[in-house]
Amino acid sequence: MSTFQAPKGTYDLIPPDSARFLAVREAISAPLKRSGYGYIETPGFENVELFARGVGESTDIVTKEMYAFETKGGDRLALRPEGTASVLRAALEANLHKAGNLPVKLWYSGSYYRYERPQKGRYRHFSQVGAEAIGAEDPALDAELIVLADDAYRSLGLREFRILLNSLGDKECRPVYRAALQEFLRGLDLDEDTLRRAEINPLRVLDDKREAVQKQLADAPLLRDYLCDACKAYHEEVRALLTAQGVAYEDDPRLVRGLDYYTRTTFEFVHDGLGSQSAVGGGGRYDGLSEMIGGPALPSVGWALGVDRTVLALEAEGVTLELPAATSVFAVPLGEEARRVLFAKVTELRRAGIAADFSFGSKGLKGAMKNANRSGARFTLVVGERDLAEGVAQLKDMESGEQGPVRLDDILTTLQERLA
Ligand code: HAM
Repeated sequence: MSTFQAPKGTYDLIPPDSARFLAVREAISAPLKRSGYGYIETPGFENVELFARGVGESTDIVTKEMYAFETKGGDRLALRPEGTASVLRAALEANLHKAGNLPVKLWYSGSYYRYERPQKGRYRHFSQVGAEAIGAEDPALDAELIVLADDAYRSLGLREFRILLNSLGDKECRPVYRAALQEFLRGLDLDEDTLRRAEINPLRVLDDKREAVQKQLADAPLLRDYLCDACKAYHEEVRALLTAQGVAYEDDPRLVRGLDYYTRTTFEFVHDGLGSQSAVGGGGRYDGLSEMIGGPALPSVGWALGVDRTVLALEAEGVTLELPAATSVFAVPLGEEARRVLFAKVTELRRAGIAADFSFGSKGLKGAMKNANRSGARFTLVVGERDLAEGVAQLKDMESGEQGPVRLDDILTTLQERLA
């Protein structure tokens, strides 16, 4: 009988690599935690309508990539393909926007699901850390989020990423641009499918990766030239604030995002070492989303960074994270009585905050020392019959190879000193 494998487009996170994922999640969330963002967790699935309306009926995410299903009770649900619609839904449901302080600032971390064609960096189950600031229209808020993502990547040691920045306008100016773009697209030599897309969502055509299409788009009208004065001024202020914080970005007037809710500021973090799946994170302003899902007007902005791709970007840049060893002390008992005594010592060390592990099972000294080595522990403690009689353990420094007896009663303080 063959054994089971992880489903297509998914992979397991296992030690020691999983430690890097934890560290990346931690590094991305750290700047948010010290900037007033509170942690939110929402269900892994939602009513399918939330995403259809929120993300957009005609987006690839909703039409092709959603894991939608009907429950035995007849509810139509979908595994969440992204976090923004869920977080806003939860904030509205809990009336967070009525509690006083706006913006409501939230951060999250979790699994997302998209039925995409799997390749390196593109999975059907992936992990994001995200942030949403709900209920304020202020260029400083857009800038804050971009600065925090930039800080997060830099704190990890990433350097070869770029920030692409654009404005998608608002409900005043975008329709005018949309009509102009549509007019332009109708005059091109495009296939049926693309022409249909041009009627439903012309901006998406700008994102077509095919060379033959891109060639024809060289003279396409740009949203930049259609922005209303309010959008223009807003965008200028975001740009100025970013520059003043020393955050470098590139204006990308052709940046289109794969979700329909964006207005004004949109941005993407791309890493040049990743090939075709180069977006390590993205986000923007979504001033109309709340109303689209039945809430009041709540202008908002946010982003989500892909944890999987951030880890790949670290690999591509050859950045190794300095992770503390999972185990500082490894204890090896020789004999039954030594096992009881040393197990109690390990418990004592752990309760005092020292990462300690123990040689389980009936291994000889050689096998146990091999385990100690693999654990990465800085120190080993070995206790045999004779040590017990003398009330000591043999403490070995695995780095220097130095070894000597330490009184059992002094083990905790000795290790506290030597690990400090
Ligand atoms: P998104 O651009 O669809 O935006 O996803 C954000 C990031 O998630 C991407 O840049 C990428 O790193 C990662 N990601 C997306 N799909 C996959 C995949 N199939 N495999 C691996 N990684 C993936 C959003 O999800 C918006 N909710 C962001 C946002 C928050 N906008 C406003 N607030």
